[in-house]
Amino acid sequence: MTIQLESIPNIDQLYDRAFHIVKEQKNKGAKTFGLATGGTMLPLYERIRKSSLDFSNCISVNLDEYVGLPKEHSQSYISFMKKQLFNTNPFKVSYLPNGEAENPEEEAVRYENVLKSIDLDFQILGVGENGHIGFNEPGTSFTSETHVVTLTASTRKANARFFNSIDEVPTQAITMGIGTIMRAHQILLIAVGEKKRTALQALINGDISEEIPVTALNKHDHVIVLTNLEL
Ligand code: F6R
Repeated sequence: MTIQLESIPNIDQLYDRAFHIVKEQKNKGAKTFGLATGGTMLPLYERIRKSSLDFSNCISVNLDEYVGLPKEHSQSYISFMKKQLFNTNPFKVSYLPNGEAENPEEEAVRYENVLKSIDLDFQILGVGENGHIGFNEPGTSFTSETHVVTLTASTRKANARFFNSIDEVPTQAITMGIGTIMRAHQILLIAVGEKKRTALQALINGDISEEIPVTALNKHDHVIVLTNLEL
């Protein structure tokens, strides 16, 4: 078992711990940070915003971006990152896939090449109810690189809470592949809430199945899992 599991029932303490891990990575010399969006990340980014953590000599890369959503849209992941982190704690350079690229497939290749030119020290992940990481839905190859995905109905439904209606949720996204994510030297996965139990349980049981993307992490040697659930 390579997963370091930390169950912290108190949510504030859980996010204090997550912040501490990020800070520790930075103090140990991490220069490249893989970032996620989504509700799970909000309390962590809030803690970073309130801190004096300085990323101005670091590089960030984001996991994913919706296809076809204008960058200025409040729910584009570039807007999310600016609001939650970059406006207050800027990095030297921040990379995200360009969801407005004319050819999303070419953009996925371009983004993968950017990622290949970077040694990713530390990747932060959330997990979807169906076990997705990034937007790698069940069935995605564990060796996949950055690619265009069609979002499943369940993922669009889960993300509809951020839009006026489910019809506004984009149908496609560009995401780092599972193989791309696995190249990170250290991974922190944060999973909060009952909805994440099934996926998390599979990970903690030691399952390794492409039907539950998060279980790829059982093949990685340096993963910390923070959850409020008792498993
Ligand atoms: C977001 C991402 C997704 C989310 C996952 C959980 O960049 O890559 O995998 O981490 O969908 O989303 P929340 O945190 O909203 O439950």
